[in-house]
Amino acid sequence: MDLMEKLVKLENEAKESIEKAKTIEELRELTIRYLGRKSSLTEIMKSMKTISKELRPQVGKKANEVKTKIENLLNKKEEQIEENIFLNLKETEWVDITEPGERFEKGHLHPITIMRMEVEDIFTSMGFAIVSGPEIELDYYNFEALNIPQDHPARDMQDTIWTKDGSLLRTHTSCVQIRTMEKFRPPIRAIAPGRVFRYEETDASHEHTFYQVEGLMIDKNISVANLIAVMKTMLREVFGRDVKVRLRPGYFPFVEPGFELDINCLICGGEGCPVCKRSGWVELLPCGMVHPNVLKAGNIDPDEYSGFAFGMGLDRLVMMRYGIDDIRLFHSGDLRFLEQF
Ligand code: PHE
Repeated sequence: MDLMEKLVKLENEAKESIEKAKTIEELRELTIRYLGRKSSLTEIMKSMKTISKELRPQVGKKANEVKTKIENLLNKKEEQIEENIFLNLKETEWVDITEPGERFEKGHLHPITIMRMEVEDIFTSMGFAIVSGPEIELDYYNFEALNIPQDHPARDMQDTIWTKDGSLLRTHTSCVQIRTMEKFRPPIRAIAPGRVFRYEETDASHEHTFYQVEGLMIDKNISVANLIAVMKTMLREVFGRDVKVRLRPGYFPFVEPGFELDINCLICGGEGCPVCKRSGWVELLPCGMVHPNVLKAGNIDPDEYSGFAFGMGLDRLVMMRYGIDDIRLFHSGDLRFLEQF
């Protein structure tokens, strides 16, 4: 058989077996059989040098044609087989790759953290710095320097958790007032958000661990008017509307005069509920003008400077805004509660 005949025969044979192939595996085998290194086609192409000069172009051309044809047939068949696989997929094997992926659960910030960050933003925009102090405090910062010496009856106002070595878990963030005065000179505008601790029975409005935002503003000629203006601005920002407030005289050894700033209970609208102890008002913000003794402890001359301070309950603020009626939920770790924010 001459080479031309061989090539034609090869072509027909390949065509026939490729048409019969049903799987991709079969096609792989056929590719090897007809185009592989040991295939007759490759053999023929290799033997080209030995063919007479006259015949060489003709045989060479035909060999290349056959090769391309077989390649095309293989490709076409492969496409067909793949399409068939796709069309015959059972419902359960079907994957829609354009379908969006499954969402997985992501955590989020605790409502108190959300509120803290918001309050920080509000005060930063009014030129306040954000400062902090330790949660385990010295008696000096928590009491002494705040005009509450040893054996002062006011120590009983805040039930304290003491450590064995005579330190304490800070009962309020007011300690940071002194620490701030030690670090910065007036004019001072600072807030100190933080966790505080009391040795206390818990109920719907009392926790042993809660959050305060201490505020301190010291400059020449600071008065109660400045205090009220700053407080009202802050509350308007937090609640998105003007909130009814009332000032009552309040006693704290480190302010003079001292006030309790109450807001209209936003849970019951002032009608009375467990959170406001049925009074319609919620104690939100003890505040006052910084006592001269406290300024002195902070090395600031009370004859030259004055200032105000406040200690806002962050938990209460969150409760008021979201209508939460039990402070204990914050640390309950209850996802049904937390997932709502
Ligand atoms: N530190 C006080 C408390 O926790 C609150 C307070 C702060 C009062 C600043 C006046 C001024 O009860």
